[in-house]
Amino acid sequence: MGNPKHPVLPNIMIEPKNDLMDKIISLAKRRGFIFPGSEIYGGLANSYDYGPLGVELKNNIKKLWWKMFVQQRSDVVGIDGSLIMNPKVWVASEHLKNFTDPLVECKKCHTRYRADQAPTICEVCKGKEFTEAKQFNLMFKTFLGPVEDENSIVYLRPETAQTMFVDFKQVLETSRMKIPFGIAQTGKSFRNEITPGNFIFRTREFDIMEIEYFIHPDNWEKNFDHWLSEQKKWIKAVGIDEKQVKYIEIPDGERAHYSKRTVDTEFLYPFGQKELYGIAYRTDFDLKNHEKMSGKSLKYKDPQTGQEFLPHVIEPTWGLDRTLLAVLLSCYSESEARSGKEDAVHETEVTLRLPKELAPIKIAILPLSRKDELIKPAEKILHSLQKHWMTQYDETASIGKRYRRQDEIGTPYCVTVDFETANDQSVTVRDRDTMKQDRVKIGELLDYFKEKLN
Ligand code: GAP
Repeated sequence: MGNPKHPVLPNIMIEPKNDLMDKIISLAKRRGFIFPGSEIYGGLANSYDYGPLGVELKNNIKKLWWKMFVQQRSDVVGIDGSLIMNPKVWVASEHLKNFTDPLVECKKCHTRYRADQAPTICEVCKGKEFTEAKQFNLMFKTFLGPVEDENSIVYLRPETAQTMFVDFKQVLETSRMKIPFGIAQTGKSFRNEITPGNFIFRTREFDIMEIEYFIHPDNWEKNFDHWLSEQKKWIKAVGIDEKQVKYIEIPDGERAHYSKRTVDTEFLYPFGQKELYGIAYRTDFDLKNHEKMSGKSLKYKDPQTGQEFLPHVIEPTWGLDRTLLAVLLSCYSESEARSGKEDAVHETEVTLRLPKELAPIKIAILPLSRKDELIKPAEKILHSLQKHWMTQYDETASIGKRYRRQDEIGTPYCVTVDFETANDQSVTVRDRDTMKQDRVKIGELLDYFKEKLN
């Protein structure tokens, strides 16, 4: 995790699934999950924008994470820190010194490559000579205020962690937490990656969800194990295929500069087995350095024993964009046409089997025809349900096509308003996974979905 010195692991492929990546990228663009960034200007190397469905999915992952690790725990509180911090933070954390990747340059055309990923022949000009590897700092630099000189240089944060260390004392005092306790945060981080790639797997700005869990040093092993098992529970909760997940102990010499033990959670992406999450035992590395640099005490006094000590830290960290990618890869499924004979001519149908909590749209409302007697109750149902859940109204195309559109974006329920509705005040609810159809009274729809979705 986090260590640019950690060599790229060999691609361990169980079965080649390269076209799956293309399918996911095409679905994401076609249905408005993820677009290439700045596309009308020819794009900007490996930047992506989350579209209307993508932002829902991303927010739902974040909400579930916050619910599991902040809301439902009494020992974790959240913060939302600034992206630009006092540059002394990055001296104390040693990011200015150590947050580097080795870089080589083609001597002919000056194309740069990460030393551990460099080809033997330059991919641009076919040149065969490269410079010696030199260290390249991954932090984005900018200037604070109107003067662009040495004294106004600041950095965009490369990790969310540091605000949680720097604010440790303020959180402790205002929340009256006792050790062990954690500070959680989600938000953007920026790294000037030399070789971004593989869609949203490695980009230069991305979201991290992370906890700094402050402990007594005697208990680090127990807490490390606890957070590893919490990450395993999370994998299940978001619908990531557990068979594609491996836990890798990172050996001495390959861990980030601050870590005494690291276990990476790796996922078998179609382009190889690579990092998804990590847990690090950061010891008191950060608090100790911030204490030294700031001159402020960051010690904790145990109210029972009176013992004063610098807390140690277990840090479980989750990449949000990689989570979204692993979820899409895990939940994508194809089957032969199944939604009725009328459109079922040897077509492959796609279903995103997202956990209901993550689905961007929870319920689609589909009147069978555009006749007033169907549209009116359908609109009434829409207005009642959209107060509680993300819904989508669709009256175009055949019902089979509309079901398929919803399956493809992972909508768990479709409500069909038909010609019987006016007579029996009921609608048909179709379940994405079982294909079962329930006839439900309009007046009971709210309770029906409360039971299914909450
Ligand atoms: N505070 C520890 C830390 O930042 P990290 O392993 O460097 O650890 C955390 O980063 C997570 O962020 C990773 O596990 C990964 O999921 C994600 N991540 C790291 N670099 C990324 C990148 N360039 N693009 C997308 N996600 C990235």
